[in-house]
Amino acid sequence: MTPPHRMIVLIGLMGAGKTSIGRKLAERLDMPFIDADEEIVKAAGCSIPDIFEIYGEPAFRDVEERVIDRLLQGESKVLATGGGAFMNPRVRDAIKTRGLSVWLKADLDVLVRRTARRTGRPLLNQGDPETILGSLMTERYPVYAGADLVIETGNESVNETLESLVAALGTEPLDAEGTAGS
Ligand code: S3P
Repeated sequence: MTPPHRMIVLIGLMGAGKTSIGRKLAERLDMPFIDADEEIVKAAGCSIPDIFEIYGEPAFRDVEERVIDRLLQGESKVLATGGGAFMNPRVRDAIKTRGLSVWLKADLDVLVRRTARRTGRPLLNQGDPETILGSLMTERYPVYAGADLVIETGNESVNETLESLVAALGTEPLDAEGTAGS
């Protein structure tokens, strides 16, 4: 299958499934998959919790911006971004210009359940994860709503969400470069 878009960029809150869906989407479209958080860890030479603890969140956001900017250049790929990336207006503009943004939208209970399975998310260690995710939803969902595509993810399997996403991508118009129009 020919990749329909140059860059497909997954956005959404922690626990929305950006990495697992992104990996499967990339396989399906025969495109490389890159997880921006993993690239940040490589670039910084330490884990995300350590970056937050030692250098602080603003330093993390700087590295995040530079890494995503780099990843948006070059070969076509599926790119999963950390939940805060699309909140940065420069990152948002770069994504809008060079890729097709897909918001994986999930309800609070789904996010709470999925994030409970994994540690390593410093923002969720600052209090009650459900309260924190709830306020991040209030702050971020209006901004995420500017994504090119919105895919609702709930209790269905990763494969079912993948099928909805593939179907939605199939209806996106392309411009001359093979990039989806806005
Ligand atoms: C963050 C989300 C994390 C990671 C960092 C900050 C956020 O990525 O980038 O912990 O601000 O929402 P995931 O959304 O992949 O968990």
